[in-house]
Amino acid sequence: MVHAAAASLEPAPDLVLVMNCCPPPVRKAAGHNGVIDDAVEAWMTEVDPVHTNGKSDRAPIIEMADVTKRFGDFSALKSVSLDVGLGERVVVCGPSGSGKSTLIRCINQLERHDEGRIVVDGVELNDDLKNITSVRRDVGMVFQQFNLFPHLTVLQNLTLAPMRARKMSRADADAIARRYLDRVHIPEQAEKYPAQLSGGQQQRVAIARSLCMQPKIMLFDEPTSALDPEMIKEVLDVMIELAEDGMTMICVTHEMGFARKVADKMVFMDQGQIVEAGAPAAFFSSPESDRTKKFLSQILDH
Ligand SMILES: Nc1ncnc2c1ncn2[C@@H]1O[C@H](COP(=O)(O)OP(=O)(O)O)[C@@H](O)[C@H]1O
Ligand SMILES: [Mg+2]
Repeated sequence: MVHAAAASLEPAPDLVLVMNCCPPPVRKAAGHNGVIDDAVEAWMTEVDPVHTNGKSDRAPIIEMADVTKRFGDFSALKSVSLDVGLGERVVVCGPSGSGKSTLIRCINQLERHDEGRIVVDGVELNDDLKNITSVRRDVGMVFQQFNLFPHLTVLQNLTLAPMRARKMSRADADAIARRYLDRVHIPEQAEKYPAQLSGGQQQRVAIARSLCMQPKIMLFDEPTSALDPEMIKEVLDVMIELAEDGMTMICVTHEMGFARKVADKMVFMDQGQIVEAGAPAAFFSSPESDRTKKFLSQILDH
């Protein structure tokens, strides 16, 4: 199957974010290369690799306090507060339209919040574009649609940003790319184009591409929702391995088996609010809110 996102020649608006580096606005959109050139130009400084083996007692790496986000008159987030510790794995669930994507998109400012405070690794997300750029260097994001460049091979997809943004040599970028392709268990696919891969393989390439930028935090927005059932497990397995390695993660997903396995904290959202948050054991066995109970009964009964 040729995936629609992979086959599209339109630059995806979220692609700049996948590159982890471009403050808004993107200055030109004359095709993929135009977007990428601007994106990588915006990334001026080297970022230290981060090693986060397991949990830490440090202060939260993500702090959201009373965050509100409006689209016109509609409030997609209503005074949402959430702290995520270094190495913590948070799974966010909730009905469609409850604000899950908006929540994680505010963390890397794909959406600018209207009220409240968001601090990522000590940097407050405010009107200062330097801060936004700095946070985006630390935050990788994986989308439901894989957003790979269809005209580049897997290896080229992975090496583009490290070479252009970090001025890494081709040899170094190739070495890192192959290391992360190994890590997502598809080293043999390096020379192929995205359309030659299955959906599950494409999503693993997208994860590897984010990892090549050595992010401190990974955000996943329903990464398996576009996949055929037999490919979901291979992507979740890679995410489980990442979690076991200590990556700080926020995953929007309804894969509750995955959630039970990796989550330190479950978050249930409804109508732009966090209705309930807590440890998975209590969240699944004795949810407090009727809305959480109803939602869980709907998704767990299948
Ligand atoms: N760019 C936008 N413009 C207008 N409304 C939006 C926009 N993005 C999201 N919304 C609205 O905000 C609400 C929350 O959306 P979203 O965060 O995508 O929900 P979820 O990811 O939980 O399905 C929805 O009602 C959606 O229609
Ligand atoms: Mg969503």
